[in-house]
Amino acid sequence: MNRNPSLDKITRLAAKARARAWQARALDWWTPVVGPAGVRAEVYVDMVSQLFWAEQVALGALAKMMVELPEREARDFLATQIVDEDRHAQVYRGYLERLGDMKPLDPGLGEVFAVADAWTGPTWGRVAALNVMMEHEALHQQQRRIAMLPCPLFKQINTRIAADESRHAGFGVLYLEHVVPKATAAEKAEVMAWMGELWTLWRAANKGRYQADGEHVLRLDADELEQRGRRVAATLSSLGLNTGGSRVAA
Ligand SMILES: [Fe+2]
Ligand SMILES: [Fe+2]
Repeated sequence: MNRNPSLDKITRLAAKARARAWQARALDWWTPVVGPAGVRAEVYVDMVSQLFWAEQVALGALAKMMVELPEREARDFLATQIVDEDRHAQVYRGYLERLGDMKPLDPGLGEVFAVADAWTGPTWGRVAALNVMMEHEALHQQQRRIAMLPCPLFKQINTRIAADESRHAGFGVLYLEHVVPKATAAEKAEVMAWMGELWTLWRAANKGRYQADGEHVLRLDADELEQRGRRVAATLSSLGLNTGGSRVAA
């Protein structure tokens, strides 16, 4: 019997994930696809393609975490997350097929992902970066896209995906609650410096995107990014990861 409250909650979250697993074929694939007015088709395809690539990158990170994380409860949850991210990649791929095109990974995002992938510090750093920082960010972007983009199929897809990402973000918080109190100050500083670097690259990658007239519906403005950075910093700080003067919030 496991008496660790965070690990118990993780076990319950994994059970919930298994109970709520859905299938790509449950979506209404024959709904007409509608691109946002004023956005060129290739730009819309590019936006969806980046979502597809991000799911692939998440799968790569999860494969590493599955080997690195020592707690059976955490790996039990990760097994459900791998199934989720794989389904997300499949669904975005299906949507891109409906759009009839696909674009390569954006070089700026590629840089964020490369620095994330190269991590060799404390193993929980990957959970902090993927499940806490990026999943919260993905969730925010998905909710924004659900609200702003007109395509009923894209809304259906993102509503389903956002429910999964919210669980992944929840796991990140629970896992850090379990592991951060035992981490040394040096480990915390190392993780936070790396997350600061990731956040700086993320901001830079978003900066030049969707600047043409009519593309504002896809754009993440500098103000909004700054606000997001403060939210991420507040979440990390509530978990005992001090961001005083950190570049995450910069
Ligand atoms: Fe995902
Ligand atoms: Fe996720």
